[in-house]
Amino acid sequence: MKELSDIAVVGLAVMGENLILNMASKGFTVTAFNRSYDKVERFLSGRAQGKTIRGADSIESLVASLEKPRKIMLMVKSGQPVDDFIEKLVPHLDEGDIIIDGGNSQFEDSDRRTAALAEKGLLYVGSGVSGGEEGALKGPSIMPGGDERAWPSLKPIFQGISAKVADENGELTAPCCDWVGDGGSGHFVKMVHNGIEYGDMQLICEAYLLMRDLLGMTADEIKEVFVEWNNTELSSYLIEITADIFGYKEDGKALVESILDTAGQKGTGKWTGVTALHLGVPLTLIGEAVFARCLSAIKEERVDASSVLKGPKPEFKGDRQAFLNSLKDALLASKIVSYAQGFALMREAAKEYNWKLNYGAIALMWRGGCIIRSVFLDNIKTAFDKDENLRNLLLDEYFADVVQNAQQGWREVIAQAAVNGISVPCLASALTYFDGYRTANLPANLLQAQRDYFGAHTYERKDKNRGEFFHTNWTGRGGDTASTTYDV
Ligand code: 6PG
Repeated sequence: MKELSDIAVVGLAVMGENLILNMASKGFTVTAFNRSYDKVERFLSGRAQGKTIRGADSIESLVASLEKPRKIMLMVKSGQPVDDFIEKLVPHLDEGDIIIDGGNSQFEDSDRRTAALAEKGLLYVGSGVSGGEEGALKGPSIMPGGDERAWPSLKPIFQGISAKVADENGELTAPCCDWVGDGGSGHFVKMVHNGIEYGDMQLICEAYLLMRDLLGMTADEIKEVFVEWNNTELSSYLIEITADIFGYKEDGKALVESILDTAGQKGTGKWTGVTALHLGVPLTLIGEAVFARCLSAIKEERVDASSVLKGPKPEFKGDRQAFLNSLKDALLASKIVSYAQGFALMREAAKEYNWKLNYGAIALMWRGGCIIRSVFLDNIKTAFDKDENLRNLLLDEYFADVVQNAQQGWREVIAQAAVNGISVPCLASALTYFDGYRTANLPANLLQAQRDYFGAHTYERKDKNRGEFFHTNWTGRGGDTASTTYDV
């Protein structure tokens, strides 16, 4: 083992431990630190035994064990614990040392910490890490952002341990990790990843609901559909594990059928939605995915409502295989809308926060290792490589074509869901967004008239230049004074 470690990892929960083992397996020497030292001792005499991993029992010994510039990666609970540890660490560090936060932190916190530590001569990196415990051990997707001066020292370690996908020559060498940008941009990109994860999961759940309640399919039959879809453009980690889940039996019965239908959430999907509202980006699908979890959580209320509010009894009369094909199309088209909205959010954030984001590189970072990994991300990378200023993924030739071809089936699925009273918020909101986005003339002219009528909020005219505002005295009783025209 080298005399000094390449990096330290603080926090020995499962993600922290697995990242350390991953680093050691790639030839790096790692110092492990935890608030309680007995956890470190257990790790050293257990999974870390015989590997290039050493423990530290105090902040002083942790700092002394590291090569300069020191690199210390925090894998602790996001929020106050990150600030608390930084405060303890800072007095022991020297100029140019690097602190990395690998938890699911809010991007505003990473922004603030990067600026505050730069004033002290320290380099801060807020890094998204995705892929769960297996990803951490075998190769996660890593999305670092913050003080770019840290990147040359971090790059060999982060790209060394990250997942790899095929490069242009088909060799598995392209790392699912690259520098994202300044300030909180790494955690922003991870937040959007998680929002998209919420959307992908809910879309799959809605497809399941239609198979179960409209087509009356069994768990085994549903499993087969997901297995089949995993060999198509939908091929992804989430479709693959869904097939596995439907095959998992407990006492001969699919376990999924015994799980209570109330979803939990740790907040990253909600932050994505809140941020979209702040930035004024229509992120409808992810918003619906978050609300679908909220609706699922009021189980008792839904059970009561189910006996009061009656709807149609689902009954399917058409060709089942044709419907399943349409369902696949609906899922694919909705997924494209979700990613289009997610990338639009990143574009707007880049403008607002002055980040220079490389969307092709982000698609590549998500291509492997993370929860939303899929073959589909190859096409997204190609789209942004072709046009880095692409305004909306739906305008890319390839995706426009896929959606065009999927459209009829997609509409059929939404229509069947509505007629049969089956709730599909994400599939339906995706179609509504698609139809709104491709509508040159929306009814917002009426909305502006209403605003002007009751509040003199003014409007622009089709027959005048943009930026010229008008007010009408609609009733003859109002004055001529218009209110200001600011937009949030
Ligand atoms: C990942 C995941 C992970 C997330 C969990 C739980 O990329 O590895 O996104 O970071 O925390 O999936 O999220 P929810 O509890 O909000 O579903």
